[in-house]
Amino acid sequence: MTENTMRLSGDGLDIELPVYEGSVGPKVIDVRHLYGETGYFTYDPGYKSTASCESSITYIDGEAGILLYRGYPIEELADNSDFMEVCYLLLFGELPNRAEKEKFIHDITYHTMLHEQLKNFFNGFRRDAHPMAIMVGVVGALAAFYHDSTDISDPHQRMVASYRLIAKMPTIAAMAYKYSLGQPFLYPRNDCSYAGNFLRMTFGVPCEDYQINPILEQAMDLIFMLHADHEQNASTSTVRLAGSSGANPFACIAAGIACLWGPAHGGANEACLKMLQEIGTVDSIPQFIERAKDKNDPFRLMGFGHRVYKNFDPRAKVLRKMAHKVLAELGVETPLLEVAMELEAIARSDEYFIEKKLYPNVDFYSGIILNAMGFPTTMFTVLFALARTSGWIAQWEEMIEDPTQGIGRPRQLYKGAKKREFVPIGRR
Ligand code: CMC
Repeated sequence: MTENTMRLSGDGLDIELPVYEGSVGPKVIDVRHLYGETGYFTYDPGYKSTASCESSITYIDGEAGILLYRGYPIEELADNSDFMEVCYLLLFGELPNRAEKEKFIHDITYHTMLHEQLKNFFNGFRRDAHPMAIMVGVVGALAAFYHDSTDISDPHQRMVASYRLIAKMPTIAAMAYKYSLGQPFLYPRNDCSYAGNFLRMTFGVPCEDYQINPILEQAMDLIFMLHADHEQNASTSTVRLAGSSGANPFACIAAGIACLWGPAHGGANEACLKMLQEIGTVDSIPQFIERAKDKNDPFRLMGFGHRVYKNFDPRAKVLRKMAHKVLAELGVETPLLEVAMELEAIARSDEYFIEKKLYPNVDFYSGIILNAMGFPTTMFTVLFALARTSGWIAQWEEMIEDPTQGIGRPRQLYKGAKKREFVPIGRR
């Protein structure tokens, strides 16, 4: 970090604040000692101008539409790599060589089974429970089953917990789906790929062999890769904040899943598909565009806009191609893709969307692919959580190893009542 300073003066103050430069991206002003030295807090609700940590994992240039995992552009990883390699890259900082990759895949594969008693947790849920509710509960419950990997001061235990979480998420996600259908759970099989195994556990049944379609396996793997990490987004920051108190990794990931569920974050792909279905035909698009532009209407075009990308989300570009491939493979004739393409074209030529730099994001196309593959909309965010677990874990591990990170404890601009006397109930 190159150090420089910046002067802050006014309101009786005149102090120098350190300024740091990362390898790329905006410089940051270090305000850690501002309160101690001046009695002032900074105010940044929603963290629009705040770097909460130092990180070497993922870099986004929102203006240019660039996403790098450990320096590698997402498009190059999408074309040449796979999800297991990406997990390794996020966790360890470098792409694995052949032997390292084989060992990693072996270690992940041999952690995919769940403790048998965890089945009882599923049985406690209503059959119509949202699978994200099940995920939050079951992932949090893992801490009660894997005591030997909850000591966060032990690097080996942290690594075992990381492998367990990445390995068991597909099993948990598939079980959540099977439970909603009333079908028996399928155990993982060690001769399948990570994505193939997940498809088999989700769509297979114990009474017959499940043939994994290689195109769908590739599409699934690609969706996992594209969702693996995304810098300090809401759920990742939640995982870091939960972890900053010393909470065990299973609890932290459960917190991340809870945050991801919201429609402004991971829940957007579910909301986006519902919106495309509601629009239904190309003719209805203009009326939805008008609603999205109307300040008095809370409706937003789902799958458009991003806190960081003020350009085309590079993940959406990759998925757009894959959407065509999957629909062609499955022979699915759906008006959804046509509506999506037209909506994208109209929104991209509309002054409102141009001026506000609202471009399609990753969720715009992922829903179409997942829908064609047979996933119900309630499973979309679950798949996001499954993939993002690798990024959450890498970010959590980075935070634990960072000596400058203490417990996360934001302050506030208090606007409530000043100290006042208690009023007994008879006098209120
Ligand atoms: N449709 C219509 N108007 C929009 C949209 C949209 N999708 N997104 C933002 N705007 C408008 C918004 O009304 C505001 O207008 P004004 O300045 O006149 O008040 C302006 O654009 C800026 O919006 P913002 O809410 O301040 O921007 P933000 O950076 O806080 O929000 C967002 C980012 C993703 C929450 C938002 O764009 C949104 O709600 N999009 C739809 C939901 C969605 O697709 N989310 C998935 C995000 S990608 C997946 C992930 O990483 O989790």
